Amino acid sequence: MRIFIFHLLTPILGLSLLLGGAKNLIAAGEVEVLHWWTSGGEATALRVIKDNLQKKGVSWVDMPIAGGAGVNAMTVLRARVSSGKPPTAVQLLGFDITSWAEEDVLADLNDLAKQENWNKVIPQPLQDFAIYKGKWVSVPINVHSTNWVWANKAIFDKLNLAVPTNWNEFKLAVEKIKKAGIIPIAHGGQPWQDATIFDSLVMVAGGADFYKKAFLDLDAKALGSKTMEKAFSYLRFIRANLDPNFSGRDWNLASSMVIEGKAAMQIMGDWAKGEFVKADQVAGKDFICFRFPGTQGNVTFNADQFAMFKLGKSQKVNQDKLALVIADKDTQARFNQIKGSVPARIDISDAGFDACGKKGIKDLRESAANGTMMGSMAHGYAAPPAVKNAVFDVVTKFFNDEKVTPAKAAKMLAVAVAIAQ
Ligand code: BGC
Repeated sequence: MRIFIFHLLTPILGLSLLLGGAKNLIAAGEVEVLHWWTSGGEATALRVIKDNLQKKGVSWVDMPIAGGAGVNAMTVLRARVSSGKPPTAVQLLGFDITSWAEEDVLADLNDLAKQENWNKVIPQPLQDFAIYKGKWVSVPINVHSTNWVWANKAIFDKLNLAVPTNWNEFKLAVEKIKKAGIIPIAHGGQPWQDATIFDSLVMVAGGADFYKKAFLDLDAKALGSKTMEKAFSYLRFIRANLDPNFSGRDWNLASSMVIEGKAAMQIMGDWAKGEFVKADQVAGKDFICFRFPGTQGNVTFNADQFAMFKLGKSQKVNQDKLALVIADKDTQARFNQIKGSVPARIDISDAGFDACGKKGIKDLRESAANGTMMGSMAHGYAAPPAVKNAVFDVVTKFFNDEKVTPAKAAKMLAVAVAIAQ
């Protein structure tokens, strides 16, 4: 009972009290940053931020929490804050930023935002999350998107495969690859990875309008509809075209399977490109990237942002330096060329980016202009954490249990989302 009361009170007033007396025990010229960039490509990209910060006289004290999409990082963060030891800064996505801002524990970055004109150079869909009740509470470094396929070019060439442009062509390509004795799709069976694929499938099944209705508006009818059944039936097809060892595999190991020619494709956000680049592969030569067939023109996005905890004046100086480095043009250009994402700032040229990076920048600008840039459900930009987790549960249950039919899964999804709101 006591624990129950503590949990109830913590979000309302406990955290502010805890943070009021918060001391994190790091030295004067340091910032401790909690993040989940632990793969080869991610760690290389992160070096750009660390080095640029060091040039400003501040050392980055690393607090990496392995686990894609920040699932584990968010659990550790909650524990750290609850015990009165928040990190100096934290990597956050979408609605997680809003949740922490609601608890009134994030530092106000408005002075910096004004000085640096963030409202002019950061696009509105990112500002919608970075600004809470008129205050900048986080600073975005990039824009990723989930509706991508990463393919081994040698396999595509050998089998004479063209880039598929719709679901039927995708199916035919998968069948051809399978017939040739190659694993068609490299996947890691973790709920967030299953859900990452599902972002694209919902878009393919019903287009951008349907994605919006189901995942952004959380419309019960759309969630339980025949179109959603179709999305689940697509997911069943994908499940049938994996290797037997997919369960629990980390996403970067799935990328390696494509890099090494053990599998033909990975359906994954553009952080996967970071692994190809890290392995010295060249876009267009060793690997190809294309939008998930049937989602061309649309982008399901997520952006990595950094928020600072309220830790008093002495920490604020370093926090501001970190925020400035993250928002810096040079940092964003170099970081994103390595990471696979697109800069959060719109005033950075695509000149130093490879073919996939250039396509990412172009697609993003077009989809933003056409109103088809939509928050990723799998990566926290479509709905609050409770809803996202409810979607994860249903998608993963369906993925791993053949007894659940697409019709039943769609019904379960509508109910789970309704309960989670
Ligand atoms: C983050 C990426 C990260 C990926 C895999 C996504 O949610 O936005 O920066 O590389 O998860 O962990």
